[in-house]
Amino acid sequence: MYTSFDDTLDSIVRLLKSHRTEFLSGEEISKSLGLSRAAVWKNIKKLQSLGYKIRSKQKSGYRLDSKTDLMLPWEILDGLQTEIIGRKIYYFDVIDSTQNFALKLASKPYENGSIVVARRQTRGRGRQKRRWLSPVGGIWLSILLKPNFEVFHVSLFPMLTSLALGIAIEKTLKLQPKLKWPNDLTLRDKKVAGVLVDASVQSNQIDYLVIGIGINFKIQPSAISKITKKSKNFYGVATLLGKNEKSDPKILLQAFLYELEQMYGKVVANNLAGIKNQWKKRSSTIGKSVKISTSDREIMGRAIGIDDDGALLVSSRGITHRLLVGDITRQI
Ligand code: BTN
Repeated sequence: MYTSFDDTLDSIVRLLKSHRTEFLSGEEISKSLGLSRAAVWKNIKKLQSLGYKIRSKQKSGYRLDSKTDLMLPWEILDGLQTEIIGRKIYYFDVIDSTQNFALKLASKPYENGSIVVARRQTRGRGRQKRRWLSPVGGIWLSILLKPNFEVFHVSLFPMLTSLALGIAIEKTLKLQPKLKWPNDLTLRDKKVAGVLVDASVQSNQIDYLVIGIGINFKIQPSAISKITKKSKNFYGVATLLGKNEKSDPKILLQAFLYELEQMYGKVVANNLAGIKNQWKKRSSTIGKSVKISTSDREIMGRAIGIDDDGALLVSSRGITHRLLVGDITRQI
């Protein structure tokens, strides 16, 4: 079962946050929010079960000692600067795959920009039908978009997403991740995040897109590599934050949603050159000698650029190949 935005919980949290150093009596809370005393008590219990440390003291009332680590909808919305993306949030403590849930939402109205976030996934999906391990500590997220774009823009979305995430990581964590084609983010040449796009297209228009993003925010890389190292394109796992580092994942998530919405605006305005340049600047693939395997062939050559559709251009024996999908199995 998911948690969605809850007006009452949000109002109580806001009230407690604005009185961090003092206790607020149940009566004060009930009066200022127009709730019964029983409703205040019930909702405080609910907040405590969601990880908020709320001290309750007889005769004094309630005081917020620390807020939750969970990415609850009202916490994500508090400070979110987007207009469409992330305005509706479904939060799961555990789910099979946020991607599958978002795909089910796609047939419903008013879901453009909705996001699905989970603390952990039991059957996370990676690209090319691979498994995606998603323990507690990562940011596991899917975004549902119903853009009014021509179908040829679909192939741009993986690139836009990894670029937006790269920029958000630079801004909020002061790290410089690289972008490895097609849509991996790496730190010290190891994978720190990946992007998966599921699309439905009808008569040359995009019906919907579900963009899945897996971010190893603060995980144990060794636990993941132990299981995934047998996978064909495995090249190592990294985490953004180490064991003793602290940062609020919500800040990164908010920044990422904002950057993605900006990119989206650039596609609408047809400003693709800016996006391509930003991507190239951060790319670890362009200029390298690469070996790429696709479902039907293997190409060796030099990665020389990307085109307006987000396809990688690989020059091999005088021929330039355009690649929209594939896995880099060697990059030197
Ligand atoms: C990749 O293979 O690099 C893409 C990984 C995408 C994983 C994310 S985690 C959130 C969303 N839900 C899933 O089941 N997969 C994506």
